[in-house]
Amino acid sequence: MENLQAYIDQHKARFIQELIDLLKIPSVSANSAYSQDVLRTAAAVKDALLSAGCEVVEICETPGYPIVYGEKNIDPKLPTILVYGHYDVQPADPLDLWDSPPFSPLIKKTSLHPEGAIFARGASDDKGQMFMHVKALEFMTENEQLPCNVKFMIEGEEEIGSESLAWFVKQNQEKLSNDIVLISDTGMISNTQPSITTGLRGMSYVEVEVTGPNRDLHSGLYGGAVANPINILSKMIASLHDKDNHITIPGFYDKVQSLSATERNEMAKAPFSLDAYKQALDIKAVYGENGFSTCERTSIRPTLDVNGIWGGYTGEGAKTVIPSKAFAKISMRLVPNQNWEEITTLFQEHFNNIAPKAVRVKVTAHHGGQAYVTPTEHIAYQAANKAYTDTFGVQPLPQRSGGSIPIVSLFEKELSSKTILMGFGLDSDAIHSPNEHFGIFNFLKGIETIPLFYKYFNKMILEKQS
Ligand code: BES
Ligand code: MN
Ligand code: MN
Repeated sequence: MENLQAYIDQHKARFIQELIDLLKIPSVSANSAYSQDVLRTAAAVKDALLSAGCEVVEICETPGYPIVYGEKNIDPKLPTILVYGHYDVQPADPLDLWDSPPFSPLIKKTSLHPEGAIFARGASDDKGQMFMHVKALEFMTENEQLPCNVKFMIEGEEEIGSESLAWFVKQNQEKLSNDIVLISDTGMISNTQPSITTGLRGMSYVEVEVTGPNRDLHSGLYGGAVANPINILSKMIASLHDKDNHITIPGFYDKVQSLSATERNEMAKAPFSLDAYKQALDIKAVYGENGFSTCERTSIRPTLDVNGIWGGYTGEGAKTVIPSKAFAKISMRLVPNQNWEEITTLFQEHFNNIAPKAVRVKVTAHHGGQAYVTPTEHIAYQAANKAYTDTFGVQPLPQRSGGSIPIVSLFEKELSSKTILMGFGLDSDAIHSPNEHFGIFNFLKGIETIPLFYKYFNKMILEKQS
């Protein structure tokens, strides 16, 4: 595209500064103490979209945090791209593990990022990646090279389950109609080997409560005779995997789509070093379901993990007590064809079944969503493929990710839209962890690659129509 690299070169210092300003606002959706900051971030995104060339930008109220919606229409006969992203971020804790404060963005060089990376909560997930789209739009409108219509829908509840967005999408099917949904909220293999995410796992998130006696008891007077909810919960959780690390919930695997040997061989060709993986995590061995490789375990296979567990006395010193209650948060990552609501029910039934009479259990469902797979023969995949090949000089590889963006399957159901996942993050970005960062190289490459996707997608659709 004409002037693309020159424009980025000329304006990159400003692009980075604008992103830094956005990262300074702590838009933590999970914690209501930050609600004013979340709202301020929505307003900042609105301003950014307006100055990038959107004609109308609305802050759409929802039962939860608002959705920022913007449009730039050039011709109803041309295709429409719907860009989705999120302006909320994960909580920054544990704060003491950050080398610099999470909401005071700092540029530092690292071995993987000799050109520097921006360290801040949300740098990669997803403010930095979402903002690439805003700047790509700015380039296209400023240089009169926007080839098709574009809609932006940026939400503030992705990290807590996108409930309000689901509500919004169901009510606004017409308004949101599009030819493709475009999202940068995933990663790629490396800065020299790009990849396009072709799959996301689904999710079922539950919370369990195990109740024993009606109050905390002296563990000497009652110990040995009354069920300790923490002991029981631990046993129940341990029984959810067998010796092969298969999940023991009856029916859990019934609908799991299995891959052919050819597909598995194809997957195994993607560059991956188990040694480097172990080294990066400081572990002596990996651990997971027998019969599957590490890459398969984190993409095409479902999982069950405890995300948090609590109960009893955890303060300083020792307190001898049998607690009345024990709790755990458990998430299951799901794969294509597993239905998240069905899995939630299977979990609920099983957990009740395995509970001994001495306790009562309560399972509460949080949020969930279906897995998603992008067909690589789709025009949008081909267009993305060409765009990455142009900007990286190497062809991107298709790769299924282990992460989840539950709303993507809803776009398919409610809007009949396919989604293309053009992520520019790296696994080492430490998203959701202390010291999250996003490479300057990645940020600028994204801004460069996105307009080319617009160009090729528009061209390929028009060719197909004629
Ligand atoms: N951007 C991530 C998802 C992601 C990251 C997918 C990297 C693939 C590669 C998103 O913000 C996220 O964190 N999703 C949550 C799910 C949500 C329901 C809380 C997740 O995957 O845990
Ligand atoms: Mn994200
Ligand atoms: Mn996230």
